[in-house]
Amino acid sequence: MATTYEDKTVVITGGTSGIGLTTAERLLDAGARVLVTGRSKDALDAARERLGGRAVVLQSDVAAAADREVLAERVKGEFGSLDLLFANAGVTRHAPFEQVTEEQFDETFATNTKGLYFTVQKLVPLIPEGGSVVLTTSVANVMGLPMTGVYSASKAAVRSMARTLAAELLPRGIRVNAVSPGPIDTGILQRSQPPEVAEKMLAGYRESVPMKRLGREEEIARAVVFLAFGATFTTGTELAVDGGGSQL
Ligand SMILES: NC(=O)c1ccc[n+]([C@@H]2O[C@H](COP(=O)([O-])OP(=O)(O)OC[C@H]3O[C@@H](n4cnc5c(N)ncnc54)[C@H](OP(=O)(O)O)[C@@H]3O)[C@@H](O)[C@H]2O)c1
Repeated sequence: MATTYEDKTVVITGGTSGIGLTTAERLLDAGARVLVTGRSKDALDAARERLGGRAVVLQSDVAAAADREVLAERVKGEFGSLDLLFANAGVTRHAPFEQVTEEQFDETFATNTKGLYFTVQKLVPLIPEGGSVVLTTSVANVMGLPMTGVYSASKAAVRSMARTLAAELLPRGIRVNAVSPGPIDTGILQRSQPPEVAEKMLAGYRESVPMKRLGREEEIARAVVFLAFGATFTTGTELAVDGGGSQL
């Protein structure tokens, strides 16, 4: 019999495309109540269309304190309490280190690291004992991949936060884990690099992954659902879903 998540309440930041949107769909199909966030109107509209009115789709920037405030109020109003926070919103700006600007550095950390941390801080009061938090890191955080210095560092910080938050939330019975995707063809690279650069990077990733392919969004979504609801004796860990890339 298929597992259901009937009436489980879920918030997914960065849930309007890619990994977040596919995870939202999977959980909705299994009966959960889901709220997704993102910034751009086009992606919000597309997500509304794809989810067919089944989810709450909210414009909210994780890097903006006022938006995090409104998000918490909305979640309280919609759900009352929260079983899963999937803190997944992230941006990437790959560039050689000589060309990285302070603006790029600040933007990356504001979303991937600081925004994530304070989103967790704002929403945790709504999570009862038995609930959980899943953070999105990246295999880049344990590798020395050229051009990814700022992004990789922003995700290494999140990996660290998975441990400290797990320790700090343990007394409340809330588990915190991270999912660490390898290269997944969600379009995230194409949105931040010129097409020829993105294509070259994707071809390189395909070649370097031991399984010789990119991952699928669904493969990350399954890991998220496992960490969130199945992994009841697991906290503070990071699960690599990367075709063996960070392990072999
Ligand atoms: N794809 C990969 O190969 C890969 C590998 C390792 C890790 N990851 C991580 O996986 C996560 C999801 O990435 P993805 O590949 O699914 O990318 P994606 O398709 O670009 O999705 C990113 C989502 O985050 C949202 N977002 C970005 N900045 C935001 C902000 N400040 N506030 C709220 N929402 C924001 C985006 O919407 P808006 O832009 O409209 O806000 C979108 O919904 C990210 O954390 C990424 O770093 C991806």
